[in-house]
Amino acid sequence: MNQDELKKAAALAALGYVEDGGIVGVGTGSTVNHFIDGLATISDRVGGAVASSEASARRLAAHGIELVDLNEVTDLPVYVDGADEIDGGYCMIKGGGGALTREKIVAAVATRFVCICDATKRVEFLGRFPLPIEVIPMARAYVERQVRALGGRPIVREGCVTDNGNLIVDVHGLRILRPTELEAELNQIVGVVTNGLFARRRADVLLLATQQGVERHVA
Ligand code: A5P
Repeated sequence: MNQDELKKAAALAALGYVEDGGIVGVGTGSTVNHFIDGLATISDRVGGAVASSEASARRLAAHGIELVDLNEVTDLPVYVDGADEIDGGYCMIKGGGGALTREKIVAAVATRFVCICDATKRVEFLGRFPLPIEVIPMARAYVERQVRALGGRPIVREGCVTDNGNLIVDVHGLRILRPTELEAELNQIVGVVTNGLFARRRADVLLLATQQGVERHVA
């Protein structure tokens, strides 16, 4: 199987976590797009979906799946999303698609985070994938200086404006040994909206697609 077929296999395995009549939190990205297409095949038993991006919302709507405002939701049993990297402790780097802030918000509300990945995303240490940070535009230069002081090499993502009207700064050169601490430290920098470390709210389940099949790992 090629990488896209592996992504699809992981995504379809996540359909088993959708509760009958329940609302499902939906992430963003190419792996999640397969999940959304899979949801369309069981739409009669999907109560609705909370989307983590405008792109996912459009795809869900195109399949006729009802979109639900997160503020109207008190019970969100499951959130399904991909990752750019995931380590052995279920901490992740996310935000390759620029949707990290809304992803983190929806994930925070959900009872269970199901991460869907192909095996290339599984790493020993986070940081080879540049860590995305969403930044208020007027704070860009200040945030870049603070990130350099932490040992990172910030590069503003060209032509990227988030769904919230902000910039993405990708931080290269980090070898992240303490993701929970770094997540908190980056959040303290004024002008940072969110960083792409999902360590405080990490995955509960990892569905990892390999050539031998989809492995299910539970935290
Ligand atoms: C989107 O902002 C990201 O967090 C995605 O979950 C991540 O980039 C994985 O994307 P793919 O499923 O496209 O690899």
